[in-house]
Amino acid sequence: MPLNIRFMQRQDIPQVTVIDRDAFPTEWPPTNFPRELENGLAYYIIAYQPKNQDSPTTQKFSGKEKQPGIMDRIRKFFASPQTPPDDPQEDIDIVGFAGMWLMADEAHITSIASRKENRRQGIGEALMIAIVELAMAKQARIVTLEARVSNLVAQNLYTKFGFDKLGVRKAYYLDNKEDAVIMSTEYVGSPSFKEKFTQVKESYQQKFGVIHNEVAVKK
Ligand SMILES: CC(C)(COP(=O)(O)OP(=O)(O)OC[C@H]1O[C@@H](n2cnc3c(N)ncnc32)[C@H](O)[C@@H]1OP(=O)(O)O)[C@@H](O)C(=O)NCCC(=O)NCCS
Repeated sequence: MPLNIRFMQRQDIPQVTVIDRDAFPTEWPPTNFPRELENGLAYYIIAYQPKNQDSPTTQKFSGKEKQPGIMDRIRKFFASPQTPPDDPQEDIDIVGFAGMWLMADEAHITSIASRKENRRQGIGEALMIAIVELAMAKQARIVTLEARVSNLVAQNLYTKFGFDKLGVRKAYYLDNKEDAVIMSTEYVGSPSFKEKFTQVKESYQQKFGVIHNEVAVKK
């Protein structure tokens, strides 16, 4: 099934929150997605597939469902931005998400996660391709991030994209005082980075097919 990527929208928050809590169960406070979507510096993307009708998690939309009444509409109109939307996406299965903050010429990846049951299927890599392309399109010079020193899976993913370890932030994570490793790309406009990135993208496409990336179109 093709993998699609687009910018996150409010109605994605319920599914994204489940993935986020599953991926980062001890991180506190949890990501405030409604606020992040209002944040002019932040860019959040999701990877999704059309809902698989055979999936046990599929909640099929029944045409006989109750239409929202006037009180439902009024409640929705006055709902604060912190209130999760009550109309989660019914037609797509969100399988991962990633976030980036763009500060001056630095793109900082704030989070990336793929749904537990869909790991090792290229979703993390597809999200990285899309977020790095977005950073390049936004004229970032470098892309940076932090990862737990123990999170070798994530570090492998970043190393594959040419991130290098620059240093350590001591006791960065509040839950267990774990150190963070700081990683960064070289200048993303450099021929060496572009060449490596193109290689990674081409080998991804050979293995998993072309990503339908709406983020790339709507720069
Ligand atoms: C990190 C994470 C996003 C990877 O997502 P994924 O969809 O499983 O990744 P992919 O299938 O695209 O794998 C891409 C690369 O990641 C690395 N990787 C992924 N799973 C790995 C594993 N179990 N062991 C070692 N390396 C692994 C490899 O380099 C892999 O490339 P390869 O297949 O050529 O070896 C996912 O494990 C996750 O959501 N983890 C929890 C949240 C998290 O830790 N996020 C990072 C915070 S810094």
